[in-house]
Amino acid sequence: KFTTAALPKPDGVSTFEGENYAEFNWDELGFGFVPTDFMYTMKCCDGGEFSQGNLNRYGNIELSPSAGILNYGQGVFEGLKAYRREDERVLLFRPEENAKRLKKGAERMCMPSPTIEQFVNAVKETAIANKRWVPPPGKGSMYIRPLLMGTGNVLGIGPAPEYTFIIYSSPVNSYHNHEGGLNLVVEDKLYRAVTSGTGGVKAVTNYAPIYKAKIDAKAKGYADVVFLDAATGNYIEEGSTSNIFIVKDNIIATPPTNGTILPGITRKSIIEIALDSGYQVTERAVSLEELLDADEVFLTGTAVVLNPIASVTVPYKGIRTEYRTGAETVSQKLYETLTGIQSGRIEDTKGWTVEI
Ligand code: COI
Repeated sequence: KFTTAALPKPDGVSTFEGENYAEFNWDELGFGFVPTDFMYTMKCCDGGEFSQGNLNRYGNIELSPSAGILNYGQGVFEGLKAYRREDERVLLFRPEENAKRLKKGAERMCMPSPTIEQFVNAVKETAIANKRWVPPPGKGSMYIRPLLMGTGNVLGIGPAPEYTFIIYSSPVNSYHNHEGGLNLVVEDKLYRAVTSGTGGVKAVTNYAPIYKAKIDAKAKGYADVVFLDAATGNYIEEGSTSNIFIVKDNIIATPPTNGTILPGITRKSIIEIALDSGYQVTERAVSLEELLDADEVFLTGTAVVLNPIASVTVPYKGIRTEYRTGAETVSQKLYETLTGIQSGRIEDTKGWTVEI
């Protein structure tokens, strides 16, 4: 049971949709978009400040064809999840971290951004309004997508004169549906990010350019790709939507967030959980050779959570390496702790979860 009494209701809405779950077959949930009841909208600018936002029924938005986002891709987004505990209370995972990352991304893309408080409150309001779409415990979570975009008109290159911040949500379950670990392929022709580019922020323009690599990999039977550094092609960077970790002799390593790697919130949380659990963790350049020599490999991200890797193939070297997966692995232990905290099964001693 949950209460939404304290929230301002959108125009024409006297109550949110009630205390019950949305009518949905939760066993069928994948990672496709499922619209929920409400979205949040906030506009800018008066002196760079966002005005008070509000909830509206989820629906299409109107954009001028000359909007900055449509023409020049001036936009950044975030992703976080709401989890339902066994006792039906609902938890958000580290929303402040998303607020801070959006702010950094907005600066890089020459956009104003909501304050941390505005962001977190807006996420909470959206999650509360759509609470009936947070799946039952063990059936998934509700993915929340904050999106900041230049919606003012532009023609010449330059920052848009108006910005819109929107939050919508969708119930989701696993991003990758592979029991026993994913099979990855190393991509050696297309690169995700370059030094001093935008790889280190969640710019919308980072995503469509990787479709090609991912589609080609899928067509060959792989679940995802491993991108290499564009400067030398000798070091691993990340997957198409996730950070990458290797484990060798119980020591964990992951590439550093030096501008070409997305500073994942799951990445950061896993590093902290691993250190707390007594593992040695290093953030350093990880070579392709080390990837192929690892005992375990796993991906992390909000969407993928923590996904063990069963194999990596390097077609141009004719190499395929298989890794340890399953019970008793380091990745399994880290996964259990992370998801335990996220869904309230394990006490959150870190203040990472926010109840709504
Ligand atoms: C996330 O993990 O939140 C992402 O941004 C991945 C998304 C592109 C599906």
